[in-house]
Parts: sequence; structure tokens; C-alpha cells
Amino acid sequence: MTKQRLEKLRQEINQHNYRYYVLDAPSVTDADYDVLMRELQAIEAAHPEWISPDSPSQRVGAAPANGFATVRHAVPMLSLANAFDEDELTAFDKRVSDTLLSAGLLRPGEQVEYNAEYKFDGLAVSLRYEDGVLVQASTRGDGATGEDISSNIRTIQSVPLRLLGKEGSWPAVLEVRGEVLMNKEDFDALNQEQLRKRDKVFVNPRNAAAGSLRQLDPRITAQRRLRFYAYGWGEISVQTPSPQQDLLSQLQHEFAEPYATQAEMLQWLRQLGLPVNRNHEVVKGVKGLLAYYQQTGEQRAHLPFDIDGVVYKVNYLDQQRVLGFVARAPRFAIAHKFPAEEAQTEVLGIDVQVGRTGAITPVARLKPVFVGGVTVTNATLHNEDEIRRKDVRVGDHVVIRRAGDVIPEIVRSIIELRPATTSAFVMPTECPVCGSAIERVEDEAIARCTGGLVCAAQRKQTVAHAVSRKALDMDGIGEKLIEQLVESERVKTLADLYTLKVEELLLLPRMGQKSAANVIKAIDDARNPELARLLYALGIRHVGETTARDLAKHFGDLDKIMSATEEELLEVSAVGPVVAASIAHFFSEPHNREAVQRLLEAGVRITLPEAPAEGSQRSQSLSGQTFVLTGTMPTWTRDEATRHILGAGGKVSGSVSSKTAYVVAGAEAGSKLRKAEELGVAVLDEDGLKALLGVQ
Ligand code: IVH
Repeated sequence: MTKQRLEKLRQEINQHNYRYYVLDAPSVTDADYDVLMRELQAIEAAHPEWISPDSPSQRVGAAPANGFATVRHAVPMLSLANAFDEDELTAFDKRVSDTLLSAGLLRPGEQVEYNAEYKFDGLAVSLRYEDGVLVQASTRGDGATGEDISSNIRTIQSVPLRLLGKEGSWPAVLEVRGEVLMNKEDFDALNQEQLRKRDKVFVNPRNAAAGSLRQLDPRITAQRRLRFYAYGWGEISVQTPSPQQDLLSQLQHEFAEPYATQAEMLQWLRQLGLPVNRNHEVVKGVKGLLAYYQQTGEQRAHLPFDIDGVVYKVNYLDQQRVLGFVARAPRFAIAHKFPAEEAQTEVLGIDVQVGRTGAITPVARLKPVFVGGVTVTNATLHNEDEIRRKDVRVGDHVVIRRAGDVIPEIVRSIIELRPATTSAFVMPTECPVCGSAIERVEDEAIARCTGGLVCAAQRKQTVAHAVSRKALDMDGIGEKLIEQLVESERVKTLADLYTLKVEELLLLPRMGQKSAANVIKAIDDARNPELARLLYALGIRHVGETTARDLAKHFGDLDKIMSATEEELLEVSAVGPVVAASIAHFFSEPHNREAVQRLLEAGVRITLPEAPAEGSQRSQSLSGQTFVLTGTMPTWTRDEATRHILGAGGKVSGSVSSKTAYVVAGAEAGSKLRKAEELGVAVLDEDGLKALLGVQ
């Protein structure tokens, strides 16, 4: 049984990791995730013989998503162990003291000194400075390798592109570790703007920051007002010896870090021009830690950004070195999480909502309750399994939680208060909107309405998606209008939008001459959509904006995509098996093919990508060759260059070796250029790269 549970937990955690790290669409709160992980760790602690290298407890995160070049971290980016209460914290302090005592780094009776910091609720990134210049920025990824997000990080105003101080006053290599986040105020403004544009709204500032950082288009990132706070470092290489330096000062560089404590190191980073939050404090012993925790907890609501706890790090670096690391986290540091805000209320009803792809989500209607600064009336119950696991019933008193999230969720029912006459929730077998059967594919947690475009709920959302800004961008067609058009069956598929006339719009309630004209103009403006936009507008499962663009670029026209086999689809670099199957399935459905056909009949003419079938004749021209990019190129961003290289079959790596085919060096290229020269690796500038790729 326990072994079975172990497998189940691993699977579940892997699934959550994938949703969280790769899709940026978590389906559980961090608190629930932590519960699963702790259960897994407990089982593995009791049965070490069951630990396998592929267990989610044995790694930091999940694999990087497609679309960005991979970067291997010179020093791995670790995670932190958590303490949830005073006992766990006391146990941590005791382990630390015992180790330091026996190593002779602490006197008996002496208290350990810690640097206490905020636990920023954002995304961990690593910024690599070579000779004082920012040369690369990457996400944490799985801890060993992350994604190159240099172009996006460069758009963050508070990240210095060059360190402060004089030439030579900084190490040859300095990797700064820290967190990218979005202030609450900027998050609210962004969501307002997204709503106005009928674009996706974000669940919380962390998701907004994640979505913004993982944009392939850095111009979008630049509009997002992200912030960065440094809290640590990775590789620091000793200054390159200069003739002016005497031998003694060179020998004094026993360790790369120029200061003895965490607090001084942060101070140093700040002096180098990096944003370091000021609210860290050096404290002693558990008492000191708890006082910091308490005081920070009181400030939390008034801070401009979200923090989800505090982090305690042993202050002396020599002590940190002695304490060392366990598999996924340092022994010298621990995160002390804040509890999520919880409140009690009653379940008035449980409805199911039908999403664009037919996904059925049960939603609890609640007696209004004030929690975490807002009045909550609904809470998601995620899916059938979740309701069954929690056994939430209409009439129940429940604990709800709002963990910085906009969508609150039910933690548990209070069984003691359950009225005598409740009954367990039963998933409807028919869609409440269209009456079609609800089906649940084995192995999937989600039940779906099988009605497809017969279902008005799915149709409305399909149309809303199709007219949204990143799709056909028909500004002026709002939710109300879509509802009227779909409910009256005037609009059954996308093509029907294109046949709308001013006169019939004028017959609709609350529709004036001006708005009707605006709607028709927006539709007319969308008669020649780019292939990528149209593809995205079709709402194929798993085909987001980026994948749509990749597909358009690869295939060059819609017919080819519609008739592509799964193998052919897999040739697109960002398309994996799940996506390929989904696309092939979508176009195998006669009603989807018909919907496309009707679009063409309605006069929609697709604008083809600028260079049709780009890569088809050049596709493998750089096959097997590894490129390293360094410095700033005059016109291309690093991401653009990377995409071109990958598109031509080449690889991009973060470090130069004798296997590197070319180093592409721009302005302010640092140590990689020197390394290339040392190893005799060919060096190109942007024009040289373009020539090699055969562009312009
Ligand atoms: S130190 C070697 N300090 O928490 C220790 N991490 O659960 C590595 N985080 O991935 C992390 N604030 O994203 C550290 N003051 C802080 C932090 C912090 C937030 C995040 C970071 C890390 C995660 C670990």
C-alpha cells in the first residue's frame, strides 16, 4: 500500500511540477504541494531503499520548456527546506549548533548568528556578470539547467547592465542570484489592462511575473514593470591577477567571496549596484529568528510585493561551508513560511462551469466571507477527485484559503458541523449547458463536456478566445455581444462573425449606430489574419501563441498544417508528442475542418509568414554545430539569434569549449570571447552569423 502511495505521490508531484514550472499554470496551491512533497519525503525517509534518482524529491524542479536556449548553471541553483512551526525551527537551529560545535566553530553556550531575510514570492533567476557586464540571465529551471532569458531580464530597469565601481574592482565572474517579482500595484494595473484588452488575467503577482519573464517577445516583458531583488550568489571567480597586485594579496583570496558573512555579502552586492532589499537583519538563536518572523508577519500586508515567508541563513560563510548541502537544499538555511490566510464559511451550492475546451470545473457557491482583503463568494473545487478527497458537500461548514491567489479554494469541510441531511457531490453526467454527455478520459482528472461546438458555453468561450487581442484582435466584440450572438445561434462558428451586418447588429438591445459600426470595422480589419493568429484563434488544445507562431513559421501555410502527420508536426522544435497529437486530432475532426473551410468561404484570406516555409531548405544547414552567444549584438537580441540558430538545426550553449563551432560576439563580450580566442574557436559578429544563416 505504502509503495503504491509512493508511486501515486511521485506521479502527482511530477504532474504539479510540470504545470507549475513548464506550463506556468499551477492547479494546486503551494501549501497543498508542500503537503504532498512532505508525505513523499516521509515515506522515503522511512524506506530509503525505495528512493530512486527519478523521484521528485531528488531534484529541484522540472525540465525547462521549449523555446528558450538552455543554460547550465555554473553553480546549481538550490531550493530551501521549509519549517512550518516553532518545533521544526528549533530542530533546525539545534542541528546547526551541534554541527558547528563539533567543528569547533561555535563555543558551548554560544548562539548561532543568522541573517534573516524576506522570502520573496517571485521567480529565482541567476544573473551572470563577466568583467562587470551582464552577459547572461537564466531561470532556475531544474536547478542544474535553466532557460536563457537574457533579453527579458535586460528590460528590468533595476537590473544593472554593468556593475558599479571601477574596472577591475569586481570579480572576473560574478553570478548574482535573486528573485524577479511584480509589485501588487503593478499587478492590479496589469490585470485591469488585460481585462480591457480581453486578454488573459493573471492569478497572482508571481504568475504574472512568470508569464512576463517567459515571453519570447522581450518588448512585452518590458511593459510589465518587473522588479529584481538579489539575495545571494553563484559562481564568483577570483579577480584575474594583475601585475599591480602583490603576491600576498593574491594568496589572501583563499575563497572567492570577498567578505566573511551573508549580511556583508548583501551589502557588497548593493554597493555593486544590485537591488538588495534593506529589511534583512542579523539575529541570534531561535528567539531572534522568531522575533524577525513576528515583526515581518506584521509588515507583510503593507509591503509593496508579496512575500510568502522569511529565510534564515547562517551568517558566517565559513560556518555555511562546514554545514554544506543535502540533496536539494543547503543545511545552513531554512525557509519559515507564513500560513495562508484562512476563514470559515458555508457552502450554499456546488455548480459546475464549462470551459472553452469543455473542461468541467466544480465551483462552490459560498456564504460571503472576508479573507485576505477581499470578500469571497466562490471557491474552486478543481475537479471530481478533489471534491471526493475533501468530501465537500452542500450545507457544509468549510475552511477556505486565499493564498495570495485571486481564486480561493476550499481546504476542508468541518465534519463536526455537518448537518444531518447532506449528501455527497455527484458529478453530473450531462452538461448543464447543452445536455451532452460528460466524459472523463481515464488517467485524466478533468471531466469534459463532449458537446464541442454544440455546447453554447464552449462556443461562447471559443468565440471570446478567437476575437481576443492575441488572436484575431476584434476590438469591440465584448462578452455581452458574444453571449447574444451565440445564444440566438446567429454565430455558431467563427466564420459566422465575418458575415455580420450593421443592420442586424442594430436590432440587438443596447447597440447604437456607433458601436455597431465599430464592431463591423473590427471584423473587417481581421479579414486577412496572419497564419499564426488564425491558428491560435482556432483554440486547438495546447496550441498557445508561441506554438502557433512556430507552426506557422515551419509549415508556411494552413493546408500543410491541416494535413501534417504527428511525425511531421514533431519536427517543429517547440512541439512535443502531446501537442502534436492534439493538433492532428483537432484537424481530424470533420467539424473543425468544416469550420476552417467556412472561414475561407466567408472571404477570410490568410496572410502568410514573411518568409514562407522558412527553414525548409536551410533547416539542417547548421545541424550538429554548437554556438555560444556573448555580448550585445547591434540588432538581434540573444533570443532572436538563438531562435534562428535553433531553427537552422544548430545548438546554443552557455559555455565555450573545444567542441564549440562558433562564438558569436557582440559589444561588451567578456570572458567567453577570450576563451574562444584561447581555444582557437571561430568568432563571428552579427553580420557573420546572418551570412552563415543566409538571412539578409
Ligand atoms: S536562498 C541556497 N533567499 O525561495 C539557497 N531564496 O525555496 C537558495 N527565495 O528558489 C535560495 N527569497 O526562489 C533564498 N531571501 C531568499 C529568498 C529565496 C525567495 C526563493 C528562491 C528559491 C526558493 C527556495
